[in-house]
Amino acid sequence: MIFNNGKYKSILAAQAGELENIRRRVEEDKDFRPCYHLAPPTGLLNDPNGLIFDGEKYHIFYQWFPFDALHGMKHWKHFTTSDWLCYKEAQPLIPTEAFESHGCYSGGALMVEDKIALFYTGNTRRAEDNQRIPYQNLAIFDKAGNLLEKRSLLENAPPGYTEHVRDPKPFFSATGKIRFICGAQRQDLSGTAILFEMDDLEDSPRLLGELELPDFDNRHVFMWECPDLLKIDQQDLFIWSPQGKPREKLQYQNNYHALYALGHLSQGRFNAESVAELDQGFDFYAPQTFGGLPNNEYALLYAWCGLPDLSYPTDSYRWHSMLCMPREIRVHKGELYQQPLAQIYQNIKMAQPVTVEKEIELKDLDRSYLKFDAQNTPFNICFFANRKGQRLTLSYDGKTLCLDRSHSEQTETMLKFGEQRYCALDSLHQVEIFFDRSILEIFLNGGEKAMTSRFFIADRQNRLSCDRPLLLEIGYPQAISYK
Ligand code: FRU
Repeated sequence: MIFNNGKYKSILAAQAGELENIRRRVEEDKDFRPCYHLAPPTGLLNDPNGLIFDGEKYHIFYQWFPFDALHGMKHWKHFTTSDWLCYKEAQPLIPTEAFESHGCYSGGALMVEDKIALFYTGNTRRAEDNQRIPYQNLAIFDKAGNLLEKRSLLENAPPGYTEHVRDPKPFFSATGKIRFICGAQRQDLSGTAILFEMDDLEDSPRLLGELELPDFDNRHVFMWECPDLLKIDQQDLFIWSPQGKPREKLQYQNNYHALYALGHLSQGRFNAESVAELDQGFDFYAPQTFGGLPNNEYALLYAWCGLPDLSYPTDSYRWHSMLCMPREIRVHKGELYQQPLAQIYQNIKMAQPVTVEKEIELKDLDRSYLKFDAQNTPFNICFFANRKGQRLTLSYDGKTLCLDRSHSEQTETMLKFGEQRYCALDSLHQVEIFFDRSILEIFLNGGEKAMTSRFFIADRQNRLSCDRPLLLEIGYPQAISYK
């Protein structure tokens, strides 16, 4: 079927030249398009989906509405890469069946022999009353990236849950069965995650029950999106995106959050030694890890650098959001550490270090990598000051790092959820910042904390000023290309 109903329009219904016209508008954006982050060619990107290593290359899918910067009919855009520099376009997942009539919502992938099994939510709406009916579906791709078949596994939410059951993430159980975990909302409108099991891909899923997480304060939380359960270095890691957590002074600053719990899972009960936000920036949501890695010494993750229900300044150019850089996650000193993938570092061209006394103009600062030792001493650094007085500020008072966007282009996030983001630290030494036109990813103390944010300053100058001398290492990550 070719769906074409308002914003629920499939790419198969595009008119001749329609996408090219949108693409031309996207290309008019000379300020904010990134060089080395994955961004949609047109329209809106949200969650990373179906991340899997097939033994030779990495498959990356993401939620995509091709026609505009809004949440319309969701497709899964699909790329493969083996070097994280060249991204080869592969067959997307397109809604064509009744069990996905209003979009192929999020999900994950599992290598089953030499096939890629995608588990995802089919979003549908009943014609009479627009009632949402969720389906959990399966699509099989070959390693070359071609769709072989699709079918629906489950129709409707199981008893005890509302229609908000979605985002299946599959994995193998210790006995080799296929399991998947879905985000869900209980009938009492609280958020949770539920587990299903199947003997093999031909089987029908059985509900095992909820994932209990007693160490998490679930008060006010009405939905868990994008759950992800995996082993990392002898421990269990649960990553999810709960909605409704109240804001606090130094954490949970955004509308919704991406959290992790590290600990041990036994019989559906997750005993967590730590529960924390994965990232403390303005724009980080719906992270997902790769399946199919050869071992679980580390995990590999992408996230959506954006948040639900918010507009962004690039919407007028008809594109919205990007993914973070691929991130390596490790357990270190009992905590979760995150840094860009080793290959990203290998592809940074380092320049001579510079000492900045007060102010400096740095070539292509807005697509650079910066590294310095803060020596656990307060600082205040200002980036990209332009003639209108816009700038981005990063400051440290000896206890807390603050990223201040108050003097950059106003965004809906800032209007509704504040203009600063904070990160409390016992001490601060290594600071690494990756800038890419309208995004910055900050990694502190070798990955102990991360802050990922978009920022919008047009006509910026590649200037940096600071209130004390700084010895800066500077480099340039290689741009990615599409094939
Ligand atoms: C998270 C999310 C998922 C859903 C998808 C739809 O951002 O809302 O729960 O499957 O996006 O695009």
